[in-house]
Amino acid sequence: MNETTLPQSLIEKLRFANRVVVLTGAGISAESRIPTFRDALTGLWAKYKPEELATPEAFISNPKLVWDWYQWRCSLVSHASPNPGHNALVQMEKHVPHFTLVTQNVDSLHARAGNNHVLELHGNISRTRCFQENTIVTSWKEDGQSPPRCPSCGGMLRPDVVWFGESLPQDVLEQAAKASAACDVFFSIGTSAVVFPAASLVYEAMRNRAVTVEINPTPTAQAGELSYALQGPAGEILPALIEETWG
Ligand code: OAD
Repeated sequence: MNETTLPQSLIEKLRFANRVVVLTGAGISAESRIPTFRDALTGLWAKYKPEELATPEAFISNPKLVWDWYQWRCSLVSHASPNPGHNALVQMEKHVPHFTLVTQNVDSLHARAGNNHVLELHGNISRTRCFQENTIVTSWKEDGQSPPRCPSCGGMLRPDVVWFGESLPQDVLEQAAKASAACDVFFSIGTSAVVFPAASLVYEAMRNRAVTVEINPTPTAQAGELSYALQGPAGEILPALIEETWG
């Protein structure tokens, strides 16, 4: 993908858009060397099934495996840096009057790049909470237990992420749905669009007759329903789009 292949009609629409929503998934962090979930060879689920690691039942039956897997991901994330795709979305936020960034990622890279308002649908891997009391826990005794224990109730600690079968944070989901239902342009970037309710936000935008855009090297099953499917890495397409739109 190079600058000349970006559709002029999209650039015009974006330049004058008042409300823009961007939904991101693991693909936007792939160029920061954080593996996506569903890549057949390198994806995070390549070795394990999601239900073996990312469900409350998995945690109850094998808490050490689940905690250690998230600790490994946490260390990947802490060594990663935002890439040109993340940085381009910081620029977009500066140009668009009402900009909403919704992410399924738990890696904080949008905030670290400099976006001010990020709606985290699936939580954040750097936060920890008590499995028993559901409270956020910021410090605990490192006594070799894996997972460590809650200093208040002695229950097991878990990452503050949404697992399969769990509800998304309701207020965050409502804000994301409201912004999607009112936007002029909706972007779906680096997501396989198979995990709901995140994957349904684009339909809220469609009901408002928004222009809908996918950015992904591999078109998703949703691509045919969207106004534009830009095929290529987010770290190349997004900076080109910002340059062409606002120069
Ligand atoms: P997936 O791993 O399902 O999809 C990543 C998408 O990014 C794929 O469609 C890739 O083609 C695309 N991709 C890869 N490299 C890219 C690049 N450089 N630029 C743009 N796109 C690229 O990840 P998600 O859709 O985020 O949930 O997965 C959704 C949810 O499923 C995750 O939040 C996680 C997972 O299970 C939970 O853990 C609850």
